[in-house]
Amino acid sequence: MEEIRQRRLLMVPAPFEGHFPSMMNLASYLFSQGISVTVVQTQFNFKDLSASFPDLNFFTIKDGMSESDMKSLGLLEFILRLNSICEPILKELLIINDDVDFIIYDEFVYFPRGVAEDLHLPNMIFSPSSAATSISRCVLMDNQSKGLLPPQEAISQLEEMVPEFHPFRFKDLPVTAYGSMERLMILYENVSNRSPSSGIIHNSSNCLESSFISTAQENWRVPVYPVGPLHMTNPATSCPSLFDEERNCLEWLEKQETNSVIYISMGSLAMTQEIEALEMAIGFVESNQPFLWVIRPGSIIGQESLDFLPEQFRQTVTDGRGFVVQWAPQKEVLRHRAVGGFWNHCGWNSCLESISSGVPMICMPYSGDQKVNARLMSHVWQTAFEIEGKLERGIVERAVRRLTVDHEGVEMRMRAIRLKEEIEASVRIGGSSRSSLNSLVDRIMSLTS
Ligand code: UDX
Repeated sequence: MEEIRQRRLLMVPAPFEGHFPSMMNLASYLFSQGISVTVVQTQFNFKDLSASFPDLNFFTIKDGMSESDMKSLGLLEFILRLNSICEPILKELLIINDDVDFIIYDEFVYFPRGVAEDLHLPNMIFSPSSAATSISRCVLMDNQSKGLLPPQEAISQLEEMVPEFHPFRFKDLPVTAYGSMERLMILYENVSNRSPSSGIIHNSSNCLESSFISTAQENWRVPVYPVGPLHMTNPATSCPSLFDEERNCLEWLEKQETNSVIYISMGSLAMTQEIEALEMAIGFVESNQPFLWVIRPGSIIGQESLDFLPEQFRQTVTDGRGFVVQWAPQKEVLRHRAVGGFWNHCGWNSCLESISSGVPMICMPYSGDQKVNARLMSHVWQTAFEIEGKLERGIVERAVRRLTVDHEGVEMRMRAIRLKEEIEASVRIGGSSRSSLNSLVDRIMSLTS
């Protein structure tokens, strides 16, 4: 009898905190289904994951890019550069090792696509974001190519609704804070080039955005697999963070009343203006609510320390009503009974973690998909509200109380809890995300070069 050879899969995650963990979660799940997985890492942001994922193989591309390259080029230009450097290196690797059956790559590191086409390897795209985001990029490109958009800096003022893209306004489209519109269009053309692939995997769920998932399927005419939230579909695996977690904040949370704490974090990339951080600090103090604030080193523009924050803020922290960390164990924080609300930039992972913990949000999006996510949270699921315009201490204070004290916040929390229950059902056996994951495994098993 002919022996069935184990499928050999190459997975290429993007080297960013908001992208890496969800793909590693998927990688370990696919391995558990009998697929051999090799993870291709970049030298940039390299983290040794072999101890956390002993069953997976790892390969590093020597891209020669560093943190200072990212700072000097800007994120957008950096991603374009990283892709062009990595493509020939991967091609050479795959010519030497011709035993790969299949490639899955993150949408932002699209360099494997050309290699896969040249070598006739089936491939799939992994999007760590929502289907709504994928579609919004096409809507943005379409409007830009037709000359319907004002200059980049004016788009964020456009309150008008985008025709046939309910409930998004032009200002919600995923423009970037990290480079020019011209370069963004080049990036999005690469990111959105999906039809030649064998499918698109989304870290999302049908219970969250079934209509956008159907639209994505119609747009790209390939199967779409909404398999998320991956931290719940495959909870047994936990990918170490690129930063060190300060777990002592969990002890502080133990001392706080149920649903009283506002947790503030802006993900791994967003930068806050000094004046905004100052207004936030005073607003948190004046809200009279306990607060847990993640301030990443270097994330406040022009400030290396927190000495610029006023004495009343420092006193509140000393008194124990406030707690500041550089990086928190976020998923555990959001599941803690003391957390009543989440102030966030609307990175997709944070949105998923928030709703799957039943925690309502205050949205302050900065760039890209965060604007789309904020609109989903506030106008589709109605588990959040967005802060818009100039950030002042009074606005901060009222927003915190609106979410953690007022009746409106209680209603948002109830909707978030209902959504949490739907998500839990979707990742159980028979649920939509779990079934999608099974279909993905079947598809990989059936595809060969
Ligand atoms: C980036 C983009 O900015 C985001 O818009 C996109 O959707 C994904 O890639 P990032 O800005 O880092 O991600 O935000 P987010 O998607 O929320 O991911 C941050 C991750 O870091 C989350 O999984 C969160 O749990 C984790 N985190 C954040 C911590 O573990 N501790 C912290 O203190 C802060």
